Order: sequence, then C-alpha cells, then structure tokens
Amino acid sequence: MSVERIIVEGGKTLTGTVQVSGAKNSVLKLMAASILASGTTTLTNVPRISDVALMEEVLRHLGATVIAENNTLTIDTSNLSCYEAPYELVNRMRASTAVLGPLINRFGKARVAMPGGCQIGSRQMDLHFAGLEALGVAFENKHGFINASVPSSGLKAGRVALGFPSVGATENLMIVASAIPGTSVIENAACEPEICDLAEFLIAMGAEIKGQGTPVITIQGTQDFSPVTDYRTVGDRIEAGTFLVAGALGGGPVTVQGFNPEHLRIPLAKLKALGCVLDIAHQSVTVTHEGAFKPTDIQTLPYPGFPTDLQPQFMVLAALADGVSVITENIFENRFMFVDELVRMGATVHLEGHHAVIEGVKQLSGAPVQASDLRAGAALVLAGINAEGSSHISEVEHIYRGYEGLVEKLQGLGAAIHHG
Ligand code: EPZ
Repeated sequence: MSVERIIVEGGKTLTGTVQVSGAKNSVLKLMAASILASGTTTLTNVPRISDVALMEEVLRHLGATVIAENNTLTIDTSNLSCYEAPYELVNRMRASTAVLGPLINRFGKARVAMPGGCQIGSRQMDLHFAGLEALGVAFENKHGFINASVPSSGLKAGRVALGFPSVGATENLMIVASAIPGTSVIENAACEPEICDLAEFLIAMGAEIKGQGTPVITIQGTQDFSPVTDYRTVGDRIEAGTFLVAGALGGGPVTVQGFNPEHLRIPLAKLKALGCVLDIAHQSVTVTHEGAFKPTDIQTLPYPGFPTDLQPQFMVLAALADGVSVITENIFENRFMFVDELVRMGATVHLEGHHAVIEGVKQLSGAPVQASDLRAGAALVLAGINAEGSSHISEVEHIYRGYEGLVEKLQGLGAAIHHG
C-alpha cells in the first residue's frame, strides 16, 4: 500500500452543493454485460474510480477495446477472444466475477478465478453456482478457478429460487437467463436499484425482462443482443448517502444532487430520526443539522432495507448522538472492522456479535487511522470532519476504489481536507 494519506482538519462548517457520480455497483456490471453483444457500446456518467479502471483491464484481457474519456466509456467487444478472468485481476477486484454470466452466454464457457474473501466477509459464490446449475450450467471448480460450461444440449429456461437475495447472484442469473430461449423466473431476487439499472441495460440490448426491482424477475430469453450507445449509469445512492452524512456532520445546508432520493428512502428516514432536517426534491436532497444527534437504531437489510454500504458512515452519526444507539449488521459477517479505528478517535462502541452498541460522545478527536475497506475509509474521513484537531487516514487506495474525487468534492463544501 502507498504512503499517501487523506488529512482532515475537523470543526469546519460544510455548506453548498455536490454532484454525485454514476454508481460503482451498477457500472461494473454494465461493463461486464457489454460482452453479450459484439460491437461498440458506450456508457455515460461513468465514475473515474480505480474499480472501473480494473474492470477496463479485465475487458481488455478478454480482447475488448476500451476507451475512457472523462466520464464516458467506449467498449468494442467485436474481437473478444478470451473467456478467462485471471487470478491477478479477480484477486484485486471480486466484482470481476460479474463477467461469469456474460462469458457463459458469449462463449458457452468461462474460466474465472475464485475471488478470495475480503475485509468485510468471506464473500461466497454458492448462490451463483446453485442458481446457474438450475439453468443447466456445469461447474468444475478446481485449482482456484471456476470452470463453467454449457452442455451440448444447451441451457434450459426455468424457475430459480435464491436462498438469499444476493445482488451478484441475481445479476449473473439475469444475464444468463436473458440468452436462454423460453421463460425463466428468478424468485427471492435482489431488488437494489443497480439490479434495475442492469435490467434496463439488458432490455436496451434486446432482452425481455419484467419485475426487476421486485423479488420476482421474469425473463424471456433471446439470442439477439445489440450493443447500446450512450447508456447513462444510474446515480450512486451510496455516494449520495455518504455526502448527506458529511452535510449533517458539517451542519449544512448541503445539497446532494444527481441521484434518485427514492433509492434512499430508509437512510433518509434515519437521517430525520437522527435529528436532521431534509428537503427532498426530484434528483437531490438538502440536509441541515445542528447540535447533538438523536440516538437511533439501525439494522442493515437487503434493499429496500437500510443498505450495509452506509452502515459505517451512519455509525459516525450515532457516535455523536446524545444517547445509546444499536446498529445491527445483517449482511456481512465482518463489517465492524473499522470500529476499532473509530474508537481511537474517541467513539464509545461495544460489539456484541453482529450488534454494535454506540454510546454517543460530544465530539470525536482527530487521530491517525487506517481505512480497512471502501466504506469504512469514507466513514473515517467523515469522522475527521467532526473531530477536534487533524485526522490522517491511511490505506486510502480503498477509498479511491469507489469515490470519484472525494477530497475535491468535500473541499468544494468547505471541508479542510487534502491529500498528504
Ligand atoms: C454487492 O456485493 C455490492 N458490490 C456490495 O457493495 C454490497 O454491499 C452488496 O452487494 C450488498 O448490497 C458490488 O455490487 C460490486 P451479495 P455482492 O451477493 O453482490 C452472501 C461496496 O462497498 N453471499 O448481495 O457480493 C455474501 O457473503 C460493496 O460497494 C453468499 O453467501 O453482495 C454476503 O454476506 C461491498 N453466497 C451477502 O450474501 C453467494 O453466492 C450479500 O452478498 C453470494 C453472496
């Protein structure tokens, strides 16, 4: 890891307007799904983040030509020649497994390195395998690779019930089923807005999909996909939530633009419960807050429940409440990694299994801290906005994976923050 840091001087008031970028957790899948059609696809509102650069590398490894110009990606898959996502790429970004389904459709086979676990959990893929096997995909996983193949009799449309509404499994299943003649149904599907964005993209390519955004998705398979031009990536609801927490910590008014507030209904309700005043418009939310936060319990759940990707950020608000809050993490088994760093900044947090009991304090204190993953790193930056004195956040590569210009956007709101 590099020695670069983010340095924040706390206590500044934050006001103004910030524009969020396109959603990391959608665009990576749109890039993978472009494999389905031979030709040139263009994606707009693409965030310039390191995970996108990594997915560009994966596509180039497969034989695609990828040109990135500002926030537009042009992907030519005409000369795709390889169906393998190598370990050295998958190991750096588990979302590379999003190419599994598209490669199965394009080549009738795929060889994708098994992703390792990460800081927040073991990140299994058993739901992907069970669902795809139900459609006829054959797997032989050995030597650390997923070897997928389509039997000569082809894949069979059918009903697949997911044991858990896994986002990634829903996406791989939707993609594979969209190329199988007949009607397939995914039950207990994930409902996240990024699932809807991928479904809309597949429909633009020629797929017939209904029910996206609900637990039952029905897909009419087609063999005829066309490339898509100028497909705009949905705004990043998690980045938006992160900036709303920044605005609450900095007092505001801070207006966060470029996303659909409907995608954050529960987090917005929790901001109000915490004592924030919100003005909700069509594609923006304005937040103001003064004094202590009100203690509020939160539990992370599959969409439309509270998103696990905002859990660390909201824990910073709970750490400054005038009472005790309980945050329960139901999605990942190890997403309290960053709590020790928050405690080093003066928070009072006790962990009991997947519950975090947070007793609010008046103010945090600046300290040198270390980011353990993308959202934890963002939360530590937010904590630095409140903390007395300066905070030095290291391992910032985690943050740059999913936040385009975080430092510059916070500077634009008046935060005393810089790269160090
Ligand atoms: C996506 O991960 C997101 N990543 C995550 O965002 C997000 O936290 C997660 O969905 C939940 O919303 C991307 O889209 C690139 P899951 P994904 O499959 O698809 C278990 C961020 O910070 N599971 O819904 O991997 C899994 O271990 C990242 O931007 C199985 O057990 O999430 C986890 O505990 C972090 N078997 C839970 O389900 C499987 O086959 C949710 O996983 C698949 C998942």
